[in-house]
Amino acid sequence: MERGARDLADERERVLNAIAEARRWLVGARRVVALTGAGISAESGVPTFRGPQGLWREFKPEELATPEAFAQNPGLVWEWYDWRRALIAGCVPNAGHLALARYEKVRVVTQNVDGLHARAGSAEVLEIHGSIWRLVCTECGAAREDLTVPLKPLPPRCGCGGMERPGVVWFGEALRRGVWAESERLVRSAEVLLVVGTSGAVYPAAGLAHTARVAGAKVIEINLERTALSREVDLSLLGPSGEILPQLV
Ligand code: OAD
Repeated sequence: MERGARDLADERERVLNAIAEARRWLVGARRVVALTGAGISAESGVPTFRGPQGLWREFKPEELATPEAFAQNPGLVWEWYDWRRALIAGCVPNAGHLALARYEKVRVVTQNVDGLHARAGSAEVLEIHGSIWRLVCTECGAAREDLTVPLKPLPPRCGCGGMERPGVVWFGEALRRGVWAESERLVRSAEVLLVVGTSGAVYPAAGLAHTARVAGAKVIEINLERTALSREVDLSLLGPSGEILPQLV
């Protein structure tokens, strides 16, 4: 065998061994949690935030995803969210979402606001960064779900007449306390944590990998590449989550 072919064969064997090891941990576990990020939805056509085609290459988070940006120019912020809502509405869950939805032992904690885990059939998904389908009134605080694309009028209005905002967590904002507390509780009691398609760049979400490890869980990362969290995990499975997750669970 030539060198290149031998390297490829070695790498394939390494990945198969790693998947077999991960499967042994999962078979023995009763409580599994998946912490997911934008990468799990990439194969559905939803853009990620970082990386060569990431949204934060083209757009500035401080102009679109902060409370200050919204206070200054709600119309612009809403246009961006309305564009993303329409884009996501045209996407469907992929094999990675479906594998997690079929896996009855797992609870999903996601940083994604796209709702694709629920559309795949996952129950009780913890959306720690909120949902792009949720609208929250800036006057009375009432929240509602609205799947309409495009939204009319834009910015949308609550029944009380107040302007609504996207029900997502922006930079500089706190996570919703109940959702975060439940996520931490689940992660602390997990025997295996799957960390799927996240760069691990945004805290406190990324800290859940450390929390799980300290509490004794095996942590398995699934990503196209090594990340800020790779040194914290027990096993890194490099490849698309839509291919790896169905082999794992
Ligand atoms: P990022 O865009 O930071 O990272 C996406 C990760 O997915 C990268 O590590 C990619 O290598 C990986 N990836 C891409 N395609 C993949 C595939 N097919 N299979 C597996 N992995 C793949 O997204 P997040 O980590 O989710 O927050 O970003 C975290 C937060 O930053 C988001 O929730 C958002 C953003 O700013 C807020 O808006 C508050």
